Amino acid sequence: MAETQTVRCTINGIPVEVPTGTRIIEAAELVGLGIAHYCYHPALSAPAMCRMCLVQVEGAPKLVPACVTPVAEGQVILTESEPAQEARQGNLEFYLQNHPLDCPVCDKSGECKLQDYTHAEGRRRGRSAEPKRVLGQDDFGGDILYDGDRCIMCTRCVRFMREISQSERLGVVQRGSRSIIDTFFDFGVEGDPFAGNIVDICPVGALLSKDFLHKARVWDLDGAPSVCPGCSQGCNIRIDTRDNLVMRLRPRLNPDVNSYWMCDYGRLGYEWMNAEGRVTRPLLRETNGEVSAQAWQPAMVALVDALKRAVAASAPVLLIGSPMLSNEDNGLLLRLARALGPCDAIFRSSRAASEITLPGFPMLARRRDLAGNVRGLETLGFRRVGNDAGQGGLPDAADRIVIALGDALADAPPGYAGEARLFAALAHAASPAVAAARFVLPVTTCVEAEGTFVNFEGRVQRFWPALNSPGHARPAWQVAGVLLAGMEAGRAPADAARAFLSLADVCEAFAGLSYETLGTRGARLRESAMLEAAGSP
Ligand code: SF4
Ligand code: SF4
Ligand code: FES
Repeated sequence: MAETQTVRCTINGIPVEVPTGTRIIEAAELVGLGIAHYCYHPALSAPAMCRMCLVQVEGAPKLVPACVTPVAEGQVILTESEPAQEARQGNLEFYLQNHPLDCPVCDKSGECKLQDYTHAEGRRRGRSAEPKRVLGQDDFGGDILYDGDRCIMCTRCVRFMREISQSERLGVVQRGSRSIIDTFFDFGVEGDPFAGNIVDICPVGALLSKDFLHKARVWDLDGAPSVCPGCSQGCNIRIDTRDNLVMRLRPRLNPDVNSYWMCDYGRLGYEWMNAEGRVTRPLLRETNGEVSAQAWQPAMVALVDALKRAVAASAPVLLIGSPMLSNEDNGLLLRLARALGPCDAIFRSSRAASEITLPGFPMLARRRDLAGNVRGLETLGFRRVGNDAGQGGLPDAADRIVIALGDALADAPPGYAGEARLFAALAHAASPAVAAARFVLPVTTCVEAEGTFVNFEGRVQRFWPALNSPGHARPAWQVAGVLLAGMEAGRAPADAARAFLSLADVCEAFAGLSYETLGTRGARLRESAMLEAAGSP
């Protein structure tokens, strides 16, 4: 293999060696030196137009833009010299010439690059006595609002639409200080399935999400890294919450899955995470039909007894898994079901008519399977039933031990599983079918617990809890682990990491993986990694 050619330089006295062609801004990043920038974005072309990244290179006649200048052998680069600082300060003064003092009412406040850089090294007072330009707001269609007064004309949004979404909807109109971003047609970005990304990459508050508008100040948000459960692509995301409610979803960088992007279907499809009407206590239905709320321990003892009786009567098991819940949840329940006797493990999931690919990063597509863990359930050995709406196909439950997970029975009629030998629902909400269960046990959603999904190509990815669980809800893997321990006199896994390790007992494909090896970017299941190495599609 040919050796990569490298070049060496120093940046603020720190020696750096980087592959030939590396730009100064990237080399600085490698050694932890952030260079101020607006128009540069690592996933877009670099027009070098904002001039915020000017740095001094010894021997060069003038400052150079770090975003487009490749490192040359022996270069001495200074980002904090007087000329570089003066250039940035001058630039900031120009940007603020027309920028409104909107920070108190701007959604970007707290994560705005104009605010940050001005705070770091801007002038304490403006010197302009001229009135500021006033352009007002424009509805760009879809979820996007444009505030022209705040725009610093970096053109990231225009380049995203042209290069990544590849649907030319935005352009720069007018010239000089009258320049604004505008849409070509009245419908603007409406209908573009990835348009929401322009709000993320706008360095200031010029592009706003209507959905998030004035909902929260960003410093009031808590956040957790997660994986979008909207489809089987498994985009890495960050879930921002306030007062235990999800406020917004944003993409998290993973070059192997979604780069810096996510689709609007996933981004805006979070209302269910805040849904009310959750089951908060274990519920036990007596033979006379009376329902009583229980503490976990008596509920578990009663369920273990009931399971033992049903097993003694040789009742077969029907396990209905959920592709919206983790491998840990579904896998531990599968282990329990298999320990009880002959087991039919099924799941249902909605499927869209087609995929929607992001043209500039075709690795990312809104996949047909509209749930985050369809591939995980298939890998574990669950059988898919039902139609493309994720409905129908439920087998006869009579005389079986029926265990249903999450919202798996949300659409089932009230009488479903009425003839079951034993019906236990580890549920989020009491749907008509679930309400008739002998045991209704409150379990967490994928937003309230730690766990993993397997995406469409067999990549196992971790997610972390973003919300507190309601009432007494517990992760389903924990409930299944306790029941297993009750049935087999073993020990339940103490945490999600151990629950994940125990998946290898149910399914060999998970062998060799652990939370440590998955890290924050995930790893391929052994079988998919082997298929890939063998050149299979
Ligand atoms: S709207 Fe935002 S991303 Fe677009 S040019 Fe203006 S500042 Fe840049
Ligand atoms: S492509 Fe799928 S996983 Fe990614 S954001 Fe959209 S719905 Fe979520
Ligand atoms: S980031 Fe270099 S000129 Fe804009």
